[in-house]
Amino acid sequence: SKKISIAIDGPAAAGKSTVAKIVAKQLGYIYIDTGAMYRALTLKAIQNDVDVNNEKELSLLLSKMTIKLVPENGVQKVYIDQTDVSEAIRTPEVTRNVSFVAKHSLVREKMVDLQREYGVDGGVVMDGRDIGTHVLVNAEVKIFMIASVDERAQRRHIENLKNGFESNLDVLKEEIATRDKIDSEREVSPLKKADDAVSLDSTSKSINDVVEEILSIVKEKT
Ligand code: C5P
Repeated sequence: SKKISIAIDGPAAAGKSTVAKIVAKQLGYIYIDTGAMYRALTLKAIQNDVDVNNEKELSLLLSKMTIKLVPENGVQKVYIDQTDVSEAIRTPEVTRNVSFVAKHSLVREKMVDLQREYGVDGGVVMDGRDIGTHVLVNAEVKIFMIASVDERAQRRHIENLKNGFESNLDVLKEEIATRDKIDSEREVSPLKKADDAVSLDSTSKSINDVVEEILSIVKEKT
């Protein structure tokens, strides 16, 4: 069957990446985590003392580094130049700062170019905030994944503890809500459901149920 493009957007910690990875694996498609790219730049900015509100400095920093998403033994690794930053980009500090970095149009333009290169041949599952509305507007399948803030915070809390990070549920709820607010209200490509996207509420649904729903939507298009 033909190789299509699948865009999965939605707010923070809605389960997009978990589901997208499985869908990609089942279909033999590549998985592209666009959030990881914004996180990589955020990490580099923190390391170089670049202000997350300074668009020009961030854009300069981005032009001097390479960000690569590399599948290794079925897991997606993230590299800045030759350095594996897959874990370093998941710290609470990066998470708190990334939405400020992602507001700037100079940053987004460069990221979108990179993302479209990955998507050019189809056979891709890409997750983010603006994939269906901006990066892959012609994607055959567009999913907008949502879940309650409580459930999303709970999931992230468990994930944090598992990764050995300190975690406080109430703080997490606030951080997730703040990040969604910044992502939804920014001027450039805000978080928004594409008109032709299918809404999928994952609250109290199993990962497997959500995967099956997406696969059945894909089946209709291939
Ligand atoms: O998906 P993840 O939570 O890793 O994304 C981190 C942040 O990167 C988001 O909160 C958002 O600010 C930004 N982002 C974006 N556009 C995308 C993907 C992520 O603005 N396509």
